[in-house]
Amino acid sequence: MTQPEELYPEPVIGFLEMLWGRGWLSPGGPDELARLLEGEDLRGKHVLDIGCGAGGIDCLLVSEYGAARITGIDVEASVLEAARTRIREAGISEHVELMQVEPGPLPFAADEFDVVFSKDAIVHIPGKHELGRDVFRVLKPGGRFVASDWLMSHDGEPSPDMQAYLASEDLDFGMASPRLYADALEQAGFVDVALTNRNAWYRDQARRELALLQGELHDAAIAELGYEIVDHNIQTWGLMIKVLETGEHCPHHVRGRKP
Ligand SMILES: C[S@@+](CC[C@H](N)C(=O)[O-])C[C@H]1O[C@@H](n2cnc3c(N)ncnc32)[C@H](O)[C@@H]1O
Repeated sequence: MTQPEELYPEPVIGFLEMLWGRGWLSPGGPDELARLLEGEDLRGKHVLDIGCGAGGIDCLLVSEYGAARITGIDVEASVLEAARTRIREAGISEHVELMQVEPGPLPFAADEFDVVFSKDAIVHIPGKHELGRDVFRVLKPGGRFVASDWLMSHDGEPSPDMQAYLASEDLDFGMASPRLYADALEQAGFVDVALTNRNAWYRDQARRELALLQGELHDAAIAELGYEIVDHNIQTWGLMIKVLETGEHCPHHVRGRKP
């Protein structure tokens, strides 16, 4: 059987970690994680991390936030391999189980998790309503859904600038609007649904990332990853900043509670 091409092979992991930190395939680092988890209590909890990537966040969920057990799922073997190494290095392997899953329904029984967490991964999952129902199913009553994700300000045809950005990213992004997200969670049965627009923060952060790519990190990134990858990403960041500036690309924090 031929495997689908990985979107996050080793060189992409290397590039993103150079920019965002070891084990991180999304922006913001520990500070942004702290903002996402403000008011949440993970101590002693069993957390499902959808799209755990290279595992940097799972290390912090255990070491800084006191989660008792993390089940990290991802569709790609390379990121899980990287995660295994990061988690072993952090000395928290007994708290974390990693699973490679197929895209589709979550392979868990009802009421298994205290918290379902995800950072910047649900953008890869097209059916937000199906996912909302499935997350609701696997959460225990009283359980929390806490996610950060990359949204688009509307559900219509992406603007030409957005299309240029998406083509340059070349990821299987299925961006949805805040309205659609909220509807997916409310229809699934979640209460206290809350969305927080992180556009202004990421717009400024992305400008800093581009400056790093063009300056401080430039030569080291080329030495590690080659000119082509770095140059392509500089172009992609330029296109992304355009749609962050118009507000069409609008990362959000998304929360809900299963009654
Ligand atoms: C932008 S990365 C974020 C990784 C990690 N959450 C972080 O913030 O560092 C998105 C991750 O979602 C994973 N992914 C894509 N589709 C998925 C799916 N259907 N189920 C679970 N993970 C998925 C990708 O393989 C990738 O590791």
